[in-house]
Amino acid sequence: MSLFAKKSLQSLLAQAGDSEKGLKRTLSASSLVALGIGAIIGAGLFVRTAAAAAQNAGPSVTLGFIVAAIGCALAGLCYAELSSSIPIAGSAYTYSYATMGELIAWIIGWDLILEYAVGAATVGIAWSEYLNNLLVNVLHWKAIPYEWCHSPFEHNIAGVHGIINIPALFIVTALTLLLIRGTQESALVNGIIVVTKVAIVILIIVIGWQFINPANHTPYIPPAGTYTDHQGISHSFGGIMGILGSAGVVFFAFIGFDAVSTAAQEAKNPKRDMPIGILGSLAVCTVLYILFAHVLTGVATTEDFRTSGKEASVAFAINKYMHGYAWLEQLVTIAILAGFSSVILVMLLGQSRVFYSMSKDGLLPRTFSAIHPKYKTPYKASLFVLILVGIFAAFVPGDVVGDMSSIGTLFAFMLVCAAVIVLRKTDPGLKREFKTPFVPVLPIIGIIVCGAMIFGLGWTNWLRLIGWLALGFIVYFGYSKKNSTVQKELRGEKADA
Ligand code: ALA
Repeated sequence: MSLFAKKSLQSLLAQAGDSEKGLKRTLSASSLVALGIGAIIGAGLFVRTAAAAAQNAGPSVTLGFIVAAIGCALAGLCYAELSSSIPIAGSAYTYSYATMGELIAWIIGWDLILEYAVGAATVGIAWSEYLNNLLVNVLHWKAIPYEWCHSPFEHNIAGVHGIINIPALFIVTALTLLLIRGTQESALVNGIIVVTKVAIVILIIVIGWQFINPANHTPYIPPAGTYTDHQGISHSFGGIMGILGSAGVVFFAFIGFDAVSTAAQEAKNPKRDMPIGILGSLAVCTVLYILFAHVLTGVATTEDFRTSGKEASVAFAINKYMHGYAWLEQLVTIAILAGFSSVILVMLLGQSRVFYSMSKDGLLPRTFSAIHPKYKTPYKASLFVLILVGIFAAFVPGDVVGDMSSIGTLFAFMLVCAAVIVLRKTDPGLKREFKTPFVPVLPIIGIIVCGAMIFGLGWTNWLRLIGWLALGFIVYFGYSKKNSTVQKELRGEKADA
């Protein structure tokens, strides 16, 4: 029974109110929307869109975006309800601890590591692709040798194998140090980057529209079949499975809107601002994504994205097809490098805050909840996250980490949708500033849509998710269960301060 021990809402809220000792409350609704957009627009759009078109869906990747947006909107509504009633740091992990008990909370927290830490690594790897584009096409220097900017588990068409991805490792390290300096400063840098990033996306849509070649959009949905890439990996291509697979891949582009909720403890007015931050940033990005994917797959061919346009695909498409717009390629490259940085920043922020919460609850070692005396940030959690993210960024291929991040998040979203249904039954009297409409129908549809995307991601990703969860169980039963504050209270032991 104690596996499902719950943390009381009173103790969660009391913890949140204790802002003197904890994190500073500095974020407004608009900075939360900016934080959301900063987290959302990134490698998913500028790298994974082309990968999904190449491997799964051709131009119908736009339909994949629609499926992914529906799943996110439904999960987003559930997130908004939970975060408006449980406004403290820790994201879905915290909500589920109060609603579905410790084991489920652990699973979600463990999944969120996939989402944020592995997600940050994915964007770091994409950053490294665009850095090469900067060196070659903007600065007219030499590219970093393939070996030093790729994982040992991948090779190029000429058969050269990677060793370590140094640029990816560099960027995640630099941003961790910035994060440790403090959220407020990071949010200011983030605000500037967000404006640039949105402007660039709009510019590409508007200018690129005239370069759409209708032949590239025909047929819009390729016939169902399979595609085997140069690494020998097969993917379902075309038809409904292609669209579902592409939805799972580009779902990565939406990851991050929920990161807003991890900053609840740092929001000035979390009950009002959380739903605005989550749903507002999601709505803006959905519209931009669909238009952007339509333009990108219209300008370049699916074959391009399988070969020479596989990396830094947007810059490639402009370079090859949009003559007279070299300035746009240069601008895009610089903006993307800055834009990716803001995504990594928010993901690292989310991850360190989840670690902070889990450590405060005793599920992870206490040392991770240590707050820096001067900067008031959970610096030890950030440094530990850096080790984890650094290993993924340096040694695992971008496609693998991207899809792992998607599948882990999708699974967490399914549990979040379920949490809303459970909490309505177990605690009907809870004050909810925002209520998800049509419960339980909408959360159930959310579970189905996210489940369909997991299905579309294919068995290698299912295995990775199962392996990750198995590792999580080992840690939980080996460490967390014994050290959990809630469990200690249940056993009548004195909890650590
Ligand atoms: N949504 C974020 C991105 O696209 C993770 O990079």
